[in-house]
Amino acid sequence: MVVSKAYRQFWKLGNREVDTEMFDVNKDGELVIREGHYQYNVYDLARKFGTSLEIFMPFVVEERLNKLVNVFTRHMKQTGYKGKFFYHYPMKVNQNKEAVLPLVSEGAHLEVGSVNELTLVCKLWEGNSVHHNIRVLCNGPKTRSYVDLIFRMQASQLRIVPIIEDLQELDLFKEFRGDIGIRINLETKVKSHWDKKADRFGLTAEELLDLGKIRNLKILHYHIGSQIEVGEDIVRALKEAFGVYKKLRAVHSSLDTIDMGGGFAIPYGKKRLYSADAISRRIVQTLKKLADDASLPHPNIIVEWGRYLVAPAQITLFKIVSAKEVPKGLAKFWYVIDGSFMNDLLDTWALHQKWHVVPVNKMDAKKKNRVWLAGLSCDSDDKYTAKDGYLMLPRLEDLDHGEDLYVAIFDTGAYQDAFASHHCLLSSPLKIVLQNGIVTIARKRETAEEIGKLFGW
Ligand SMILES: Cc1ncc(COP(=O)(O)O)c(C=O)c1O
Repeated sequence: MVVSKAYRQFWKLGNREVDTEMFDVNKDGELVIREGHYQYNVYDLARKFGTSLEIFMPFVVEERLNKLVNVFTRHMKQTGYKGKFFYHYPMKVNQNKEAVLPLVSEGAHLEVGSVNELTLVCKLWEGNSVHHNIRVLCNGPKTRSYVDLIFRMQASQLRIVPIIEDLQELDLFKEFRGDIGIRINLETKVKSHWDKKADRFGLTAEELLDLGKIRNLKILHYHIGSQIEVGEDIVRALKEAFGVYKKLRAVHSSLDTIDMGGGFAIPYGKKRLYSADAISRRIVQTLKKLADDASLPHPNIIVEWGRYLVAPAQITLFKIVSAKEVPKGLAKFWYVIDGSFMNDLLDTWALHQKWHVVPVNKMDAKKKNRVWLAGLSCDSDDKYTAKDGYLMLPRLEDLDHGEDLYVAIFDTGAYQDAFASHHCLLSSPLKIVLQNGIVTIARKRETAEEIGKLFGW
């Protein structure tokens, strides 16, 4: 018991502040996942289903959504805030059914960025699979088919709000009878890979204020970047947005909502960043003061924090299939995995994303190797060299006879699936879902024939 506690600490498991509260290590040094009274042995799952393997945990997204709604409503109550809080899940972050359905069934609203995402929502709506007062915000460039579907969905009584991203779009929605949102391109710069020097999304404050009256304008929206590293940056952006909101309010009494977009950061490196509790309190207090000073009603608040909800809800498992000595480098060995960073976890290559990597078995190994991980594709960029320049993983010579070493990459639930590819025609991971103690397969392992078909064979 004491021993596993020490390993739990070493691998940073069971810690709510870094989103690992559902993980633990058992007395045999194996990774386990806890869902209330249920427990799943990850090592057993890896051997049963094979690797590469994605494990998705809907109970994690449900819990995180409920916690988020609770902290906002608590702070609103405590501060005497009169506006309402709405969570809109941005589908682009993880469009898989097993991610979206639990969220909408827990009361989340949605944000979509393309006609194809809206088509999925349309299916849910027409199949009566979503709550009747769900609201859908439509971001992204409005192609003809996207505009047509927005009008069609509005006619079918869905609460749908097009978010105007540029001047041409205003014209497209002149005849729209429902609520309208508009996106502002803020000047505030934040610490995030995605806050570019030149941003092409939304209208500048000047353009916005020159527009005159927009019928049924309800929402002022901005999205300043993903993975915003400093919590106070979120508040600075909000202050700038409120300045414009206040001016727009002078001509638009219908405007009553600020949509802050996404951006809440995940502690991928397992060092604590900021908490949803602290940031939501800052947001509510800041907006209350600004609105009171301007003698305006407290605006409704929307957040579209996607990564925050779904990244910690998935881990990706690989088996180490071979090891090779590194002749010269910080690491001593390449451990080759039975999957691909380039295909399955594309941000490793695209953004040099750092992941928390833990062994699935042999977590209690006393001796470890300094290693780099290499993917199965033939590309020399298909690798992971970690945040400290190397990873510490158990030695393969310490494995029992017939035992394989498995590793888990944490926080892989955001964005990676939609970016996945088939370099060297490798198969995507099989995906399983853990819920209420039951394990189900959400996506089978692709066969060579199925992948060949994708390429016209
Ligand atoms: C408009 C909009 N909202 C929300 C998000 C989600 O951002 P995050 O996952 O960082 O919360 C994005 C991501 O690109 C976005 O473009």
